[in-house]
Formats: sequence, structure tokens, C-alpha cells
Amino acid sequence: MRRLDQLLSSLGYCSRREAVSVVKAGRVRQNDVVLTKADAKVDPHAITLDGEPLEAPDGLLAMLHKPVGYICTHSDGEGPTIYELLPDQWLRRNPAVTSVGRLDKDTSGLLLVTDIGSLVHRFTSPKADVEKVYLAELDRELDPQLVEIFARGDLMLRGEDKPCLPAKLEIVSAKTARLTITEGRYHQVRRMFASQGWHVEKLHRERFGPHVLGDLAEGGWRMIPVEQAAR
Ligand code: URA
Repeated sequence: MRRLDQLLSSLGYCSRREAVSVVKAGRVRQNDVVLTKADAKVDPHAITLDGEPLEAPDGLLAMLHKPVGYICTHSDGEGPTIYELLPDQWLRRNPAVTSVGRLDKDTSGLLLVTDIGSLVHRFTSPKADVEKVYLAELDRELDPQLVEIFARGDLMLRGEDKPCLPAKLEIVSAKTARLTITEGRYHQVRRMFASQGWHVEKLHRERFGPHVLGDLAEGGWRMIPVEQAAR
């Protein structure tokens, strides 16, 4: 059970103060009975506001198809951010939604966003072992030897003291490859190819753990049922 005004404000609908007038206006029901008190203890799943169930009362998880040119930051001034592509209400939630890890400005594809702190940790901790699948377009023809080089688990990136974990490279066409990694080091995919003399011209993430981008339109988002995300 949750206090109604706190519930509405934590889900980004209104401030706790505004909740008083929202409730007074008869807009909130529990099991179809109009509520009259903003401090009532309620079951979040039995509440409707203006006839609609509350959005993601147990925490929100969604996938975004990040376009190239957007940055993964909450601070402004550095160009368009991924948060501009999401509903304002998600940013008014407390805690606000945040991305699960980041993609570079020049990378497109699947990015998870959530307000569930434990999920962010689960998916991004160094021990997480979550597969991330990228499609990379290179500046020149790929060498099949890269498959073995990336798979060995001894690839050192400049400035680091531990080799990358084994990664799976699949050559898709002369200059296109699909790379599966389980770590999330800074600019990892670009730096892995750079270490062998290739430049990544385009990078796109197709999959993050069990979540696949599929046909989600660029710039679009889709909710993921939280039960499905193994909390
Ligand atoms: N590797 C990169 O180089 N960039 C990304 O955005 C993600 C992985």
C-alpha cells in the first residue's frame, strides 16, 4: 500500500501538492470508487487516474532505438539527448528514468532506460555478463583472422592493463561484421577494431541481453514488462 499523493508524484503525474486538487476533482478511483483523500493508503494496481491505470507502478523499463547524433546524458548543452525522445512524465518520475549504460553519440540502436536502480546495476556491473550484439561497418575489408584474434581473450586495448574477454565476431559481408561482447568498456567496439587497424564507420546495437531491437522505429521506444526483465 502506498500513500496516494506520494504515489502520483513518484510516477511523475503531479507534485504532492497538486495531488490534493487532482483528488478533489474526483479524477482518481480505486477499484472504481472515487477517492477523496490525497493521503489515503492505496493499492497502486487498483488506481485509475482519469479512467486510466497508473503507468508502470512497479518501476519502468523500456527500450529506445537511439538514433545517431543523440547523447546519453541528463545534462544539457552538448546537443540533443536521448531523454528528449522519451515522454516528459518519465523524467518527472522519482527516481527519473536513466539509461542502462550508454551508447556513443555516433552509435545507434538498442538502449534500455529504466527507473529501477537494481536493474541498472544488474545489467552494467562488471560481473553482469550480459551479451551485447553490435553490427559494425568498417572502412576496409575484414580479415577472417580477426575472428580468432577477438575470440582469444588476450586483446589489449591501449591504456588498459587487462585484456578484453573473448568476443564473438561474425563476418557478415566484406566490410560488415557482427560482434558480441559481454563487457562494456569505454568505446569498446571501436577500440577493439582500432587495435587491429580498422576504423568503425557505423555502429549499431541490435541486442542487449535478451532484448532485441527488432523493427522498433528509429527514435521510438517500447515498454518492456518488468516481470520479463528478471528483477
Ligand atoms: N562500443 C563502442 O565503441 N561504442 C558504443 O557506443 C558501444 C560499444
